Amino acid sequence: MSASPSPENRGQWGSKLGFILAASGSAVGLGNIWRFPYMTGENGGAAFVFIYLACVIFIGLPLMWLELAFGRHTGKNPVDAFRVTGRPKEVWLYKYAGPAVGVLCLAACFFVLSYYGVIAGWTIGYIYDSIAGTQMDFKEFSANPNWVIPLFAVFIAATIYIVQAGIEKGIEKWSKILMPLLLGLVVVVIIRSVTLKGAMEGIEWYLSPDFSKVDGKVVLAALGQAFFSLSVGWGLMITYGSYMPKSQNIISNGFWVALMDTGVALMGGLMVIPAVFALGFPVDAGPTLTFETLPAVFSKMTAGVVIGGLFFLLLTVAALTSSISMLEVPVSYFVDGKRASRQKAAIIVGIVAFAVGLPSALSFKGSETFSSIPTSDKVTVRLEGINAQNSTPEEMKNVLADSDASVGSLNYSLVELEDLAFEVPSVDNNNTATIIKELKSNEVAHLRHSVTENGEKAEFRLISVSGGKKAVAELRRALAQKDIRIPEAAVKRSPTTAADKIRTDLTFTVALSKTNAVNKALDSNKGSLGYKKLELKAETTSFFDIMDKYFGTLCLIIISLSLSLYVGWMWDSSKIVGEIEQGCPSFTKPLIGNMTPAAIWIFFIRFVCPVVIFVVLLGKFGVEIF
Ligand code: PHE
Repeated sequence: MSASPSPENRGQWGSKLGFILAASGSAVGLGNIWRFPYMTGENGGAAFVFIYLACVIFIGLPLMWLELAFGRHTGKNPVDAFRVTGRPKEVWLYKYAGPAVGVLCLAACFFVLSYYGVIAGWTIGYIYDSIAGTQMDFKEFSANPNWVIPLFAVFIAATIYIVQAGIEKGIEKWSKILMPLLLGLVVVVIIRSVTLKGAMEGIEWYLSPDFSKVDGKVVLAALGQAFFSLSVGWGLMITYGSYMPKSQNIISNGFWVALMDTGVALMGGLMVIPAVFALGFPVDAGPTLTFETLPAVFSKMTAGVVIGGLFFLLLTVAALTSSISMLEVPVSYFVDGKRASRQKAAIIVGIVAFAVGLPSALSFKGSETFSSIPTSDKVTVRLEGINAQNSTPEEMKNVLADSDASVGSLNYSLVELEDLAFEVPSVDNNNTATIIKELKSNEVAHLRHSVTENGEKAEFRLISVSGGKKAVAELRRALAQKDIRIPEAAVKRSPTTAADKIRTDLTFTVALSKTNAVNKALDSNKGSLGYKKLELKAETTSFFDIMDKYFGTLCLIIISLSLSLYVGWMWDSSKIVGEIEQGCPSFTKPLIGNMTPAAIWIFFIRFVCPVVIFVVLLGKFGVEIF
């Protein structure tokens, strides 16, 4: 057993249940209830969910077993685990590349902690909001540094406090009590969400896959989400495995953790997505989706104040059981080498993570600099429904001459103008008219509208609308927010009755620095150009998104790839098989014919995982194999 130093001085899990709860406490967190629903929303729904599940089963789970066994075998943190196993010291690949992957693990945990804490801080704010019934506006809240930063600080302080207290007393004790409670509450919220009027549409969207929407980006996002949510690819399971007694069964332990985590993610989706549709929020809103939707759901519940308050409290706790494990990874590295005391390491790493997280905290319009970082020096200008005769290339050249903007090629596309008609109950007449007026200037561009009262009903007609299908969706969404619901099929579309029938959409790009000048030039010619809607879109991202993209996705994928290559090909996968066998003797007994579970697992680690991950990575860098 010389290769397996006894972990006695490092603290150990008290029981099998203790481990499962702590590891699923790490796995179940904001990743399930906040990240999963919005990723599903941004990536097209059911097809994403399907690919995500495949990633969990075929890639995530085999790697989770690998990490646990690697950790228990070495009894070390990720960096030292690589260091002690890379025997032929002369070979640089073993000497440096392995530990470098270990360092990447520490980096992933550290940097993700820095923005994870920001979102967790929001959950604390919402405990207050629910109980006090302040119904704060999410956009204002998340943009206000005076709220967001102190809450972030409180959360990080709590994380530090628990981690410095040590493994068994801290992490394990808390997880046991709070995880089951959260599950119960999630079920209550699901029941409310799916029974909202109009929720059915969301359920359908969530459950019926449309694979035509799937591309390399969606697969990358699904794989990244699987790693993020399972806490695999962070070296975390290496660390947690190192606290696991030899008698425990790695296979069944890992399986339970994955099952719980995936179950809660699917429930998280079921909690948020039907409500998003019922309440008319845009499903691809990104990281703010869950926070905008859930308070609205609670406000429609009996005892919503209590349930909402309790829910956000438990969500904070779920985030805490995850964040403590994130902090634990770098801390265990410092503690192991006697590089520092547990207390000191926890405090210093925690405080630095807070400092690094400040730009992320300001990424939701708290500071323009961190919220809109341009990713290209071009802006796309889109003019909807422009008068075709007055917008010839020569005309456009004249219009834009003063702004001195080097205009890219002009792309015209003919638009079919349509009239839309639908009925609402007469009581909703005024509200509907107001909404249509509001929409006119931006969302649903149209010429004018008319209303015909007809007994109990009022018939609305929107004349000369461009982008029929999109306009219908926008319109229904806006009405739903005021609780006025019209089924999609009840909106009649017909060719426009307006005199002016020929319009085109026009798009072109201009230099970012010329945005204002172009805007002015177009605006002062609005009369003759006659466009109905002007959209200027600069491609921007936020500091938060950059962190999530590189550390919360890419980094995990690279670590996982390296781990499967390292254990599968470079080091010795039979040592891991031997490790798993302890506590799970059937791992090496024939399962089908003379094939053992161990052989199947090795096949996944050597071939399936690296090949799939590699292909997805290539796709990210623009190489399409399929
Ligand atoms: N899995 C956690 C979640 O879903 C995030 C996490 C990853 C926590 C890695 C710890 C370590 O929220």
